[in-house]
Amino acid sequence: MAKTISCGGLNMPTVGLGTWEARDDSEIETALNAALELGYRHIDTAAAYGNEHVIGKVLKKWFDSGKLSRDDLFIVTKLPAPGIHPDRVEKYLTKSLADLQLDYLDLYLIHFPVGIKEGEGPPQFEKEEHKALWQNMEKQVDAGRTKTIGLSNFNVKQIDKFLKFARIKPACNQIELHVFLQQPELVQFCQKNNIVVTAYSPLGNPGYNTFLKRIGVEERTDLVNVLTNPIITEIAKKHNRSNAQVALRFLIQKNTVVIPKSVNPARIKSNFELYDFSLDDADMKKIETLDIGEAARIVDWRVYPKIDEQPEYPFAKK
Ligand SMILES: NC(=O)c1ccc[n+]([C@@H]2O[C@H](COP(=O)([O-])OP(=O)(O)OC[C@H]3O[C@@H](n4cnc5c(N)ncnc54)[C@H](OP(=O)(O)O)[C@@H]3O)[C@@H](O)[C@H]2O)c1
Repeated sequence: MAKTISCGGLNMPTVGLGTWEARDDSEIETALNAALELGYRHIDTAAAYGNEHVIGKVLKKWFDSGKLSRDDLFIVTKLPAPGIHPDRVEKYLTKSLADLQLDYLDLYLIHFPVGIKEGEGPPQFEKEEHKALWQNMEKQVDAGRTKTIGLSNFNVKQIDKFLKFARIKPACNQIELHVFLQQPELVQFCQKNNIVVTAYSPLGNPGYNTFLKRIGVEERTDLVNVLTNPIITEIAKKHNRSNAQVALRFLIQKNTVVIPKSVNPARIKSNFELYDFSLDDADMKKIETLDIGEAARIVDWRVYPKIDEQPEYPFAKK
């Protein structure tokens, strides 16, 4: 079983199953069934991943069989870019709940600080109204649609602003975090303010170029590689573990939550075996030296052209 961390007063399992780019129905069913059998109790999805309805079908089977009840699970999903507007929070949350066949979420995140208008064609960006947006997120907690609420991809300055106007403080900030992009300042700021940091792409997403290819974007040659890095390999050999396990264990020892994505049952199993070994101070220090900051960022939101020209774009411009 994964340990838990307090997230807005809830027990959030520190290892969850990521599901981005888990697209094929039978693949998701196999992955989720394997994960739940193994003891995963935290599932991370998003309206933008297009798989909530499949996850919902699998969860219903588990609930109907009596093997699990709703309160055994910690379910996280996210307000998609076209919902990032004060008037549209309830609509998108209600749709996610219907697709997931759930009465409530454990954690609902604003997927990104910049919203786009609804509709087809090239994205038109919304004027940022974070305060009103958050007030509508808070109303979802009041209405019982989600137990708690949080952010994703927000920077220190933005979170600081939320802390000043929030009635319900953000419980979590889900950010890209791996051995090459450690973001110590952002992590410390969140943790100091009792905001759980969830690490996305904790393995440095070795499948990122497959995603780019699928959406017709040129593949990247500058991507970091956790699975072949010699320092990680050396530490993995020392502990008789895989590189992936070392990379995940490093993040857990930094008190962050990890949500590795896999649709392969053997990898889902090994990504969960993180609590029967530990990294010593020397290992931790060596891995800290791998941090190269922004140059290591993998997930590039500029697939929405001109998003980096918006005032609330959260990352340094490359
Ligand atoms: N909030 C956000 O903006 C945001 C952005 C990105 C991701 N996320 C969330 O974070 C989750 C994780 O991030 P991610 O999917 O970008 O990347 P990741 O978990 O770092 O890497 C996923 C990739 O690694 C492969 N993999 C998994 N375990 C492995 C292992 N033990 N050895 C070798 N390869 C392995 C997977 O392939 P197989 O499936 O074939 O095993 C997949 O291609 C997402 O799924 C999503 O839920 C959130």
